[in-house]
Amino acid sequence: MRILVRTDLCQGHAQCNAQAPEIYPLDSDGFVGIPSDTPVPAAQEPAARLGAAACPERALQVT
Ligand code: F3S
Repeated sequence: MRILVRTDLCQGHAQCNAQAPEIYPLDSDGFVGIPSDTPVPAAQEPAARLGAAACPERALQVT
């Protein structure tokens, strides 16, 4: 699994971080702080899906 990040859509709602802080750290401005196409270890896939689904801007996609 990989996480695709649409940084142009992220508005800093931080719901991804609330659901899965280990996968979705925030940068110093409060936006999601991972690069797009970040790989996810298999054990963290459920948390990655939860965090992506929580984003109201649909800025995160797991593939
Ligand atoms: Fe950004 Fe969505 Fe997370 S707006 S900080 S990717 S909940």
